[in-house]
Parts: sequence; structure tokens; C-alpha cells
Amino acid sequence: MTSPVPRAWRRAGEILRWRGPGHFFLLVLREVLRPLIYWYAWNIYLTDLQEPLPRPYAKGKFNVRIFSGENDREIAREQLASLGEPLPPNFAQRINRGDALAIGHCGPEPVAFAWMTFSSGMELAYGTTWILHPNEGTQYGTFVLPKWRGQGIHSVLNVALNTYAREHGVLRSVGSISVLNNQSLSMAKRLGKKKIMTVILVHVRGIGWTFRKAIGAPLHTRFAGKGVDLGHAAPARLGLGDKV
Ligand SMILES: CC(C)(COP(=O)(O)OP(=O)(O)OC[C@H]1O[C@@H](n2cnc3c(N)ncnc32)[C@H](O)[C@@H]1OP(=O)(O)O)[C@@H](O)C(=O)NCCC(=O)NCCS
Repeated sequence: MTSPVPRAWRRAGEILRWRGPGHFFLLVLREVLRPLIYWYAWNIYLTDLQEPLPRPYAKGKFNVRIFSGENDREIAREQLASLGEPLPPNFAQRINRGDALAIGHCGPEPVAFAWMTFSSGMELAYGTTWILHPNEGTQYGTFVLPKWRGQGIHSVLNVALNTYAREHGVLRSVGSISVLNNQSLSMAKRLGKKKIMTVILVHVRGIGWTFRKAIGAPLHTRFAGKGVDLGHAAPARLGLGDKV
């Protein structure tokens, strides 16, 4: 049954409750200024898959199934539909490049999903794209159905994708979390993830100009894009488990 409360209001209520009034204010201000200027700030985390992985901290029993490749295309599509979420517009591209889709279940019920890609080129924002070095992956697009939040399912998906990646020869996973997303930052903290940099992007709409700044490590070590000094970084376009 659909809720009588519009989705935007439910979302605002959740942000106010779980991210606090300070972050709520910043998010509202950002939306108000959107026609003129927009900005993002992400913490970038690294997980060394050669080290033992931490245990997820779910409150309950959740199973994860991972789908990847052409043979899983239709079942991945069905699984996403069963979660009631729209199919991402670039679904075909994700499958074609070998991204892994993790679907979390409680018993037979699908409750959450997350993706991991193993190819460079995924856009962070404003033409700034990920550089993945050989044998790396990055998790993205995590979503837990609202009624299942707060039970540690994010940690289950993260550990499952990292385990899958490691079993396929991937040595490191990296990931971005908005500095205003306390709910996701909590997972990084509780799983002891190592922050390697913070990336700030500010986009001025009228003139189409983007300011890019990284703190903690040079931007070009992880990101490419117009105006990013590439230094010696070489973007990789690798398949899952490719060896150097
Ligand atoms: C971010 C998200 C994936 C977290 O998933 P989750 O499985 O609920 O994560 P957790 O159970 O570990 O809870 C994380 C935090 O959410 C908050 N939380 C707790 N109960 C909650 C509830 N019922 N509803 C919403 N947030 C809740 C708490 O701050 C909690 O941190 P704590 O455990 O340190 O107190 C989920 O909120 C979500 O899908 N959000 C929308 C999409 C999104 O932001 N994706 C992440 C992109 S990086």
C-alpha cells in the first residue's frame, strides 16, 4: 500500500531525524541554490581485501545473492523490479561492463541492493570520473528499503560485495560517501574503513565551471576529468579479476 505522505516529505523527515538539523539545513540550502550553484563533498574510503574482512553487524539474518554478467541480466532486472525501484537508465551498460549487483533478502523478501563496478570511468559528478587501478572495485548505488533501515543491512551488502570481489581476484575496494550522509558514514566508521581523501566539487551553472579539490591525496590519483591534472595516473579499463 502506498503511503499517504508524499515521498519528498518522508525523505525530509528521515533526513531531519537521522542526519540532524545542521545537515538538514545544508541540504535544504543546497537545493535552494541549485539553479545557481551546486556542490558535493565526499569522503573516499579504501578497503584492503588482502586483510581479513570485518564482520557485518546486522540485527537479524539477511542473505545476499550476487548477480553479474550476461547470464544474470534478466534475473538482475527482475530482482530490482521486485524491490519496487526504477531500473537505472544505464542498466545495460552496468551489466555489459561486468558490474556486480548484490540483492539483500530477509527470508524470501528482497530488502536492499548495492552495486560494485570494476571498471574506470564511472562518473562521480560533473564529468569527474573514477580511476580504478588494476584489481580494484568500487561500491555504488546502495539502497535499503525505508522500512528495513537501521538494522545494519548496509554492512551486510558491503561485506558481501567485498567478499565476492576478493574471490574474483580484486585486491582493493574504494568507495565514496557524502560527508552529509551520516547514515552511510556510520557504516564506514563501524567497519573501520580507511579514509584516503575528501573530494569537493562546486559547480557554477551559468558559466558551466566546476571547481575540484581533493584533501588528503592528489585528486588525479583517483579521479579523471576535464581540468584534472592527470599527473602520472593511468586510467584502467579492466575486467573483474584481471591480473597485472
Ligand atoms: C544509507 C543507507 C544505505 C543505510 O542503510 P542501513 O542498512 O539502514 O544502515 P544501518 O542499519 O547501518 O544504519 C545506519 C544509520 O542509519 C540511521 N538509522 C537507524 N535507524 C534508522 C531508520 N529506521 N531509518 C533511517 N535511518 C536509520 C542511524 O543513524 C544508523 O547509524 P547507527 O547504527 O550508527 O546508529 C540507507 O539509509 C539508504 O538506503 N539510504 C538512502 C540511499 C543512500 O543514502 N545510499 C547510500 C549512498 S552511499
